[in-house]
Amino acid sequence: METLIPTINRLQEVFLTVGTEIIQLPQIVVVGSQSSGKSSVLESLVGRDFLPRGSGIVTRRPLVLQLINVAPLKERLKPENDLSQVHVVLSSELSLTHNALFPTCFPQIFTDFQEIRKEIEAETARGSGDNKGISPEPIHLKIFSPNVLNLTLVDLPGITKVPVGDQPEDIEAQVQEMILSFISNPNSLILAVSPANSDLATADALKLAREVDPDGRRTLLVVSKLDLMDAGTDALEVLLGRVIPIRLGIIGVVNRSQHDINTQKSLQDSIKDEQAFLQRHYPSLASRAGMRYLAKTLSRLLMHHIRDCLPDLKTRVTVLSAQYQAQLNSYGQPVEDHSATLLQIVTKFASDYCNTIEGTARHIQTSELCGGARICY
Ligand code: GDP
Ligand code: NA
Ligand code: MG
Repeated sequence: METLIPTINRLQEVFLTVGTEIIQLPQIVVVGSQSSGKSSVLESLVGRDFLPRGSGIVTRRPLVLQLINVAPLKERLKPENDLSQVHVVLSSELSLTHNALFPTCFPQIFTDFQEIRKEIEAETARGSGDNKGISPEPIHLKIFSPNVLNLTLVDLPGITKVPVGDQPEDIEAQVQEMILSFISNPNSLILAVSPANSDLATADALKLAREVDPDGRRTLLVVSKLDLMDAGTDALEVLLGRVIPIRLGIIGVVNRSQHDINTQKSLQDSIKDEQAFLQRHYPSLASRAGMRYLAKTLSRLLMHHIRDCLPDLKTRVTVLSAQYQAQLNSYGQPVEDHSATLLQIVTKFASDYCNTIEGTARHIQTSELCGGARICY
């Protein structure tokens, strides 16, 4: 997705000139049953270890993770820059409401991703107690970096049936409502995560996704835990779409096991082992599976989204241009017309666009993304 950054930045520059908002990229929302691997998938996409993961209910509040493209860190840290605006790497907006806990430093600045995980855990406990309770109140985290797309990723509690701990009797309905509130947004891309060792036909994630996206225009299926299938079984039929076809695609992945988490296996090693696993067990599909391929697929979907937005962007520029022209005319003085230049830029951008997409696709195919499926850093 890094390859998309220059494209978006160029568009952003153009539109900042006229002070209008550019394309809103879809937010990516993970949905699935409890412990299906949602947090693992998101974390791997971001390319950093920072989300609480584990068996049982770990994610108990929505986590809205906003990636924000900014000037390089060292630029922002120059003494003459206003530090009150600097959230260096990541800040929790919620520290605003908890400034009693952090009286001296807002925005709270984290540079250590381990600290971020602890803060998410602490914030989860603050909002939903420490006995497995859930809360629809989102935790907002922002990652500021020159190497990210302006993109929002949402981690959600898993679908669960039987209340445990402090959970209410209607836990299932509450979680479903929480999930629906995020995925019913037409600008959400749904990553439905379903473990390979459970029956796809009963996957709650797909059921919910269908409710809000019956045509499957914004649902991608991730089949996790390929490594945990019973001996003698494999997920080939599922991955080939023969069990349930999914329009945007079905991608099998292997994330880190609980043992891997306990022994602090790195994301890099995990991606490497995942590749080896796929080569060994799914040689015919290896190039179309895995976290790396999932990241590429998301890039492609985002590119398509941008492409689909271009006609509308052009219309907006034409309208703005006409408005400015009328305004200029009303001043009754000859003034140089900058709006035409702007339109030229956008038109040029649109015509360059197909090349950009193809170039990007080629680049994505040939480039070795170190660290695997990363979209930032
Ligand atoms: P979530 O509840 O859906 O967010 O799931 P988590 O990401 O927290 O993962 C739940 C548990 O499953 C953790 O112990 C993970 O280590 C484990 N896990 C997730 N994905 C995989 C996978 O592909 N393979 C294996 N072996 N374990 C996985
Ligand atoms: Na879990
Ligand atoms: Mg989770």
